[in-house]
Amino acid sequence: MVSLTAIYATSTGHTEYVLQALVPVLAKQGITVTLRRAETCAPEDLLVGDALLLASGTWNTGGSEGQLHVHMDALLNHRAKDIELREKPCVLIALGDDRYYYSCRATERLMQFVLHHGGKPLGSPLLMVNEPYGQEEKVRKWGEKLAILLLAA
Ligand SMILES: Cc1cc2nc3c(=O)[nH]c(=O)nc-3n(C[C@H](O)[C@H](O)[C@H](O)COP(=O)(O)O)c2cc1C
Repeated sequence: MVSLTAIYATSTGHTEYVLQALVPVLAKQGITVTLRRAETCAPEDLLVGDALLLASGTWNTGGSEGQLHVHMDALLNHRAKDIELREKPCVLIALGDDRYYYSCRATERLMQFVLHHGGKPLGSPLLMVNEPYGQEEKVRKWGEKLAILLLAA
């Protein structure tokens, strides 16, 4: 049985919606997902389970656009700034909106965190541009590919 800890932040519920669409796709393949909100997580929570999923929208945290959600930023760039991910397989989901110049830039912020902390990116990040409602098929297809990678990791 493969276990995935999915840590996410959300303000509008969009990121949570994407994860709620993803969980049954992975469960069908026997993968257990534990959902955790970033604001409740301690650094060591990133090390729980066989693989780590980080999911964040793109926000104007700190005053400039193209940043992580404020709760994800506080976890990754402050509380967990010294964590060593020890080659843990890491999966990324980033949300954004095409009205912004730095559209979906949270992807890069999440990838930088994984690479700087010794994590091993698994597959391609899922980029959700604009509202996730109506984009469930995209999540399902990505989730099915992810399940294959997780089961082989
Ligand atoms: C104040 C504000 C700033 C935002 N900044 C960006 C941005 O820089 N780039 C982007 O692609 N989307 C940006 N967005 C859009 C959000 O990333 C998008 O609505 C996302 O789906 C929010 O998901 P969440 O509420 O689950 O975090 C911004 C939205 C707001 C309200």
